[in-house]
Amino acid sequence: MKIAVAGKGGVGKTTVAGTIARLLGQDGLSILAVDADPSYTLWSALGIPAEQAEKIVPLTENEDLLKERMEISGAGSYKEVFKLNPRVDDLSGLFAVEGPDNVSLLVAGTVELGGSGCMCPSATLLKALMRFLVLGSDEAFVMDMDAGVENLGRGTTTGMDALIVVAEPGRRSLAILSKIKQLALDINVGRILAVGNKVADPEDEEMIRKRVESEGIPLLGMVPLDESIKAADRKGMAPIDLDADSPGMVAIREIKQRLVDEFRE
Ligand SMILES: Nc1ncnc2c1ncn2[C@@H]1O[C@H](COP(=O)(O)OP(=O)(O)O)[C@@H](O)[C@H]1O
Ligand SMILES: [Mg+2]
Repeated sequence: MKIAVAGKGGVGKTTVAGTIARLLGQDGLSILAVDADPSYTLWSALGIPAEQAEKIVPLTENEDLLKERMEISGAGSYKEVFKLNPRVDDLSGLFAVEGPDNVSLLVAGTVELGGSGCMCPSATLLKALMRFLVLGSDEAFVMDMDAGVENLGRGTTTGMDALIVVAEPGRRSLAILSKIKQLALDINVGRILAVGNKVADPEDEEMIRKRVESEGIPLLGMVPLDESIKAADRKGMAPIDLDADSPGMVAIREIKQRLVDEFRE
């Protein structure tokens, strides 16, 4: 199972991605959680301690790694020559951090890979890594991204099973749906599925349902606004560790199950 989670900033991507990863891990799968958000916080939703997370250097910011793998030569940003096919198959083994429930975390870092993305060593390494994770590896992964699915990169996602778009009730979050859907179609993701989050009342639910339906995106489920999820963030805990049976966690468990069922079909 290879899935990525997208959506506007603050909608709950990291919460949903981290919790789904933990739940799949509890089901006995071995899961690689990939953090491709520049402000990488997936560790917190996975229940990896801050002291451990503080030591993580995102791959795209790891100068030693870039030097070694990209064989950078030349001088000045224009003269740099580097490898275009770096070795990446061992990166999760070397850099992933073990978390609870069979989930390990790889902080990939981010650079824009889309059409106008930079041609720099870090972008090339990340693109090669994405291509490997999607096509060359049999590892199941859940990837947490920043809002732009551009970061997936054209041509690297053929073979990605699903893109989950998280949306909260609100015009701005919902307006992004069609943009993400278009990008997902462009980059050839298997399927796109929606999750509503921070739903406080039937009006919220209705707003999300209508918009998702009009975009033709199947809805995996709705997660209520949940004090316990907020409290977990305040305490620096994974929400699933604070209260695995809070209303929000119960909803995400149902969503996880629907996702698993989707793949069985
Ligand atoms: N269902 C929910 N109920 C209450 N708070 C939530 C819920 N989902 C997420 N949050 C809170 O919203 C904030 C943003 O969530 P986060 O998962 O980091 O979003 P993103 O990764 O999309 O930026 C966090 O403080 C998180 O605890
Ligand atoms: Mg996030």
